[in-house]
Amino acid sequence: MPAREKKRRAAQAALGHVKDGMVLGIGTGSTVAEFVKALLDSGIRLAGAVSSSNATSALLRAGHIPELDLNAVDELALYVDGADEATFQGALIKGGGAALTREKVIAGAAARFVCIIDDGKLVEILGRFPLPVEVVPMARAYVARQLVKLGGRPVWREGVVTDNGNVILDVHQLRLTDPAAFETAADQIAGVVTVGLFARRRADVLIVGGDVGVRTLVPREPV
Ligand code: 5RP
Repeated sequence: MPAREKKRRAAQAALGHVKDGMVLGIGTGSTVAEFVKALLDSGIRLAGAVSSSNATSALLRAGHIPELDLNAVDELALYVDGADEATFQGALIKGGGAALTREKVIAGAAARFVCIIDDGKLVEILGRFPLPVEVVPMARAYVARQLVKLGGRPVWREGVVTDNGNVILDVHQLRLTDPAAFETAADQIAGVVTVGLFARRRADVLIVGGDVGVRTLVPREPV
């Protein structure tokens, strides 16, 4: 079965967490696009949504879902987003779509983070997918040297400028056996805006689309 159908299944299942009148945080990517489609088809009416990217804001506008500024929202009950890789414990690599900074802010602000993926993204150890790091442009080369010291091989995602005006380094050849420790170490580098590791604030629920339906994981163990 194609990954797109698995993503659609996971997206559809996430509707079970959404109620009429909710304010929702909405992530970025093709799985999220399936989620927005399913949401519109469901007839559920949100009070509004906080968007993680310009791309998602465009989807919200097209679906006539009111977009809210996070600064104007007291409590965000739920955040729904995809990921590039996920462990069974809910630690994630995100940022393939370069939206990692706003995604991490919204995940942090939300009471509950439901992550929707296809089963090809579920791994024992993170790092096969190159870890995106958003960096202030003038710090790119310096940050890259520091990431090499942490054991990675950073590659500049040339031509990509984030919604925040920054650049992305994709860090290859990592084997993240202690993702929370790596997240903390990379966060210390001056010039790093956001590390696309969601290990300290993990997914609370993982909905995994596969050939035979969806699996819902509620990780509780330490990363
Ligand atoms: C964007 C992200 C996305 O969640 C991630 O790249 C997954 O994308 P897709 O649903 O298209 O596979 O982190 O920054």
